[in-house]
Amino acid sequence: MTAVRHETKAESAFATSFPPGFVWGAATAAYQVEGAAAEDGRTPSIWDTFSHTPGKVRNGDTGDIAADHYHRYRDDVALMKELGLKAYRFSISWSRVQPTGRGPAVERGLDFYRRLADELLAAGITPVATLYHWDLPQELEDAGGWPQRDTAHRFADYAEIMGRALGDRVGLWTTLNEPWCSAFLGYGSGVHAPGRTDPAATLRAAHHLNLGHGQAIGALREVLPASAQTSITLNLHQVRPLTDSAEDTEAARRIDAVGNRIFTGPLLDGAYPEDLLADTGHLVDWAELVRDGDLAEISRPIDVFGVNYYAPTVVSAGDGSGTTKNDGHGASDHSPWTGSEGVNFHLANDRLTAMNWAIDPSGLHTLLTGLAASHPTLPLMVTENGAAFDDYVSPEGRVNDPQRIAYLHSHLDAVRRAITDGADVRGYFLWSLLDNFEWSYGYSKRFGAVYVDYSTQRRIPKASAHWYADVIRGNALPS
Ligand code: NOJ
Repeated sequence: MTAVRHETKAESAFATSFPPGFVWGAATAAYQVEGAAAEDGRTPSIWDTFSHTPGKVRNGDTGDIAADHYHRYRDDVALMKELGLKAYRFSISWSRVQPTGRGPAVERGLDFYRRLADELLAAGITPVATLYHWDLPQELEDAGGWPQRDTAHRFADYAEIMGRALGDRVGLWTTLNEPWCSAFLGYGSGVHAPGRTDPAATLRAAHHLNLGHGQAIGALREVLPASAQTSITLNLHQVRPLTDSAEDTEAARRIDAVGNRIFTGPLLDGAYPEDLLADTGHLVDWAELVRDGDLAEISRPIDVFGVNYYAPTVVSAGDGSGTTKNDGHGASDHSPWTGSEGVNFHLANDRLTAMNWAIDPSGLHTLLTGLAASHPTLPLMVTENGAAFDDYVSPEGRVNDPQRIAYLHSHLDAVRRAITDGADVRGYFLWSLLDNFEWSYGYSKRFGAVYVDYSTQRRIPKASAHWYADVIRGNALPS
């Protein structure tokens, strides 16, 4: 148990304030915004292949052009400066800098990220780099992808290349973004690239993502200055049983194992949980998969732990038919995930975003205070939070998005309350800076604080962007 900090009278007068130095940011990911898919030596990633496969992405959308951030990054950084952002979380396209996923880097690819980081630094914005936001070089997938152990070694080599190239400019590094999605949506339900549906491959991918993270941390530490910080970002499921029956409680335990502890166990506690091994032992041979020394590499210390939060996950024991409802991941709303057999998913309430995700900020508070309780010395960062709504441009040329403002307000209030309750939360990154390619939903879902007119690439800051700028300026929520 962490000690609950009681507010003093003076503090409660400023109850809507955040701690001094709180990092206010916004996030994007390479495949979702960059475009320039075949420029300067970039080769296809699994998402290029997947999005170009008919039937995989809504409306046949691809990331070929996306928000054209590759060419417009200077204007986008200027916009970030206008909004007062303190940090920008972006990801690096692996196949842009190392087209085959192995061997020497392409300087033109590295130069893009050098220029982007320089532009950010000149604008007084801290660059935060994610090495892997789901876009594995296709050549590595052809060689077996994440279910193959070698992919973890390739990832560590790539991390070293990036650490050497950007270590003088980037002070905070994230290895993986939401490895659960890479493993379970990519190799399990198949709704994300590379679109495989193989339970054994899912669990093998999860272990090799964990291993790749640990080896990348080792490689980064060799080449980064001592002041640099390292992290990983997980989409921890806020799992709740539908009722307090023994059956629903057991369903929640199983989903917590394959949804959360398959990552937090080895990463933070140095072991895979016994119940996970028992639940999934018929799908994969864990004793063969996890080699001596792996757990020590995976549990290397990190400086910051990133969490992405959108909606809670409510489960009950059942026949699996409830999986047609939403499970908090959008893209997986039509298929079960490995380890969820006999579990039904439910919406937490009927206040929904355009993704049909339930709006429930209490899940974020519980997530942050829960982590603070289980790992009291671990600094936390909310690396993504936000919502899609059906935004449109008014005849006056404005985008009014009061629902997004309400969503952000209530979730930031949950973060603030978690800090008051003792969680060491260092920052918050809004997802997303720009409307972008929402994976299997293509461009049909808009998460941006800034609207993108894809026919002209014109950017229009939504009302929520102006609202967020005010929050940043005041380091506080409006009362
Ligand atoms: C999490 C992912 O990291 C991001 O790429 C995605 O767009 C958002 N969730 C919204 O689904």
